[in-house]
Amino acid sequence: MNAVKPELRALLDAPVDRRGTHCEKWDGLEEHYGRADLLAMWVADMDFPTVPQVTEALVERAKHPIYGYTDNAEADRRAEVGWLARRHGLRVEPEWIRFSPGVVDSLFFCVRALTEPGDAVVVQPPVYGPFYTAARLFERPIVKNPLVLDGDGWRMDLEDLEAKFAAGAKLMLLCNPHNPVGRVWRADELEAVVALARRYGATVISDEIHAEFALDGRHTTRILSLDGAAECCVMLTSATKAFNLAGLRQSSVIIRDEALRGKVAAEIERAHAAGPNLFGAIAQTAAYTHGDDWMDAVLEYVTENRDWAVDFLRRELPEIRCVPPEGTYLLWLDLRGLGLSHRELLSLMTEGAHVAVNDGLFFGEEGRGWIRLNLATQRANVVKALENMRSAIRSR
Ligand SMILES: Cc1ncc(COP(=O)(O)O)c(C=O)c1O
Repeated sequence: MNAVKPELRALLDAPVDRRGTHCEKWDGLEEHYGRADLLAMWVADMDFPTVPQVTEALVERAKHPIYGYTDNAEADRRAEVGWLARRHGLRVEPEWIRFSPGVVDSLFFCVRALTEPGDAVVVQPPVYGPFYTAARLFERPIVKNPLVLDGDGWRMDLEDLEAKFAAGAKLMLLCNPHNPVGRVWRADELEAVVALARRYGATVISDEIHAEFALDGRHTTRILSLDGAAECCVMLTSATKAFNLAGLRQSSVIIRDEALRGKVAAEIERAHAAGPNLFGAIAQTAAYTHGDDWMDAVLEYVTENRDWAVDFLRRELPEIRCVPPEGTYLLWLDLRGLGLSHRELLSLMTEGAHVAVNDGLFFGEEGRGWIRLNLATQRANVVKALENMRSAIRSR
């Protein structure tokens, strides 16, 4: 990581008013929480302006007043290949990449393409809600391989995973790094998953949308960098999470094996979803071409927010359990120590602290008593949110 440029740091730290910009996180508060005067610490996007060159490229293109069908795919793939090589040491050929409007859409396409109704799909709760939807929507039974909170950290239960594959599960939806627990899976953990999938003839869909957010000098192990992954792994990735472009709807499905790629590509075609989005493609190309320094600045800023928040919680709110995340910009907090029902603790956050948090149950039943807090915002917001939470908890 290069030394962070002061002007980029200032860009991230400056307050931004996102209200009135069709922004779900701030404009959707009334609809989702019943009041608009909350500090928005929920939806997983960032309150940071994107890479300046992305905005310039979009404005430049927007000046031409015709926005017809686009075929920017080639330039777009080259930029992505360059980023994956430069930042991740991963060699990908442009033809391995297929456009998909979003990573969640891709989860749905993969489930349909690679399983039949009735085939079991493994997920690792607590996990991002749409993982469950992807199986349920298409009548694939969900098989849970819960993450284990051991001492001070989360780990996978590989023995249980093997049992699930041995019992016939065909597909695993892996979150790498993991939302919400913040694990950046080590290479040996992922190697074990791939080895099990191969042994039992299962396929692993690795959602790597949070891949850029590996903190403290860690590195996300990209699934396709592992031996034996080519025939049994699909890598889902996107510039939208890393560069704050989620409203542009742009992502990639990357598959090395031709036969596997053909199946998923056919499903994307069937859904008539293979056509790129003009502005999404332009933004992604600019981000992957010019975004290195910006990304380094964001990583440093988010790491400092995490450190500040974890330290505050330890000192001021020891009854809240928090395992410091190794990756993502999300804090997964155990509030069961407060002795409240799930409904009461959500109300304490909204009505008492005036903070909009994600409901732990969005991540499955394992999230009862938990909340998720988004730290990708100006430090002042992180400080205010946690101070408000402290006041609300102390004055109960
Ligand atoms: C693990 C994970 N996958 C997918 C998504 C959403 O991806 P997309 O907006 O590309 O559908 C998110 C957004 O928070 C996420 O956390």
